[in-house]
Amino acid sequence: MAEGKAPRPTPAELAAEADRLKGLGLGGLGYCDRDLERAAALTWRINGLKGSLQAVIPAHVYQRPEILLGVADFQGDSYQLAKLCAESRAKRIVFCGVRFMAETAKILNPEKEVLLPAPGAGCSLSESITAGDVRRLRARHPGAPVAVYINTSAEVKGEADVVVTSANAERILRRLFAEHSRVVFAPDEFMGRNLAAKLNKAPGEELIIWKGSCVVHERFDAFAIALYRKSYPGVRILVHMECRPELAALVDFVGGTGDMLAYVQKSRAPYYMLMTECGLGELARTRFPDKNFVFMCRLCPYMKLTGLAQVLRALENPAAAQRVEVPEPAAGKARGAIRRMFELAEGPAGR
Ligand code: 13P
Ligand code: SF4
Repeated sequence: MAEGKAPRPTPAELAAEADRLKGLGLGGLGYCDRDLERAAALTWRINGLKGSLQAVIPAHVYQRPEILLGVADFQGDSYQLAKLCAESRAKRIVFCGVRFMAETAKILNPEKEVLLPAPGAGCSLSESITAGDVRRLRARHPGAPVAVYINTSAEVKGEADVVVTSANAERILRRLFAEHSRVVFAPDEFMGRNLAAKLNKAPGEELIIWKGSCVVHERFDAFAIALYRKSYPGVRILVHMECRPELAALVDFVGGTGDMLAYVQKSRAPYYMLMTECGLGELARTRFPDKNFVFMCRLCPYMKLTGLAQVLRALENPAAAQRVEVPEPAAGKARGAIRRMFELAEGPAGR
């Protein structure tokens, strides 16, 4: 697809681009002039190529700031990105995120070229379950609908009745429970237990839960919470749903990244602590410069694999490994479960 290499910026263009990045908030996140200049040399070329290649760049909120602020056309949580990709009219999607997200974009856009700049960007949750595991779960719990988190492979999605994300899992499970006494949820154990608590269902009996975990969120614990509450009076503590359920009783909010950002936007507190991947806190600091954030975050080794150089490569001359393909019939089966998510997430709420 390469339609020529991107030209290089003149010194004046480079300086203007570095200033643009600084103005977007990278300066406030600690990028020095040298960092800004290095990033600008790539963002300038990437942004120049996007138009001529009719490409769009969605980026998950855990991506590096120079990607989120410098080149992304939209930034969002897993649900927002899936929806925006489904509605996109671009010819190519260069997905800055992890493999299951790019696969979802491809499943929803089989005719488009979907590129994943960092082909090794997996996810510990996605790797914790196979399609065969889902078939066995279904056989062990006949009649119970199977909901799988979007953090799964296309094959796993293809075995499910519906896909969910952190933004809609509670609502969709509530709707499933309106018609069934038992529901299967996979693969995140902690998210499953957080959901069971929210829905007042017995984990393991009414909500059957797989035992996968996120390597980032499983490591947050309650140890520092009391200390931070003392040091930062009035701090609002928000945790991602993939964190241990023991944290839920000690914090102010449990939800997905989109809901965490919405909470910060709508509330007024002297401090916020976002217990999740570091990218969300960095984005929040640039979106809400008048609010104070207490650092308590961890890096996702998969999300951070994407850099500007790989994004440029994907646009200019993609490596075979950067092209995302989801073969049939898995793609068609997964598409059904993703479309069911859109229907249930946006329809009327259950009891
Ligand atoms: P959300 O942004 O949908 O909450 O997902 C979090 C996550 O861990 C994605 O990998
Ligand atoms: Fe997967 Fe956790 Fe990284 Fe998200 S943060 S991509 S769930 S390992």
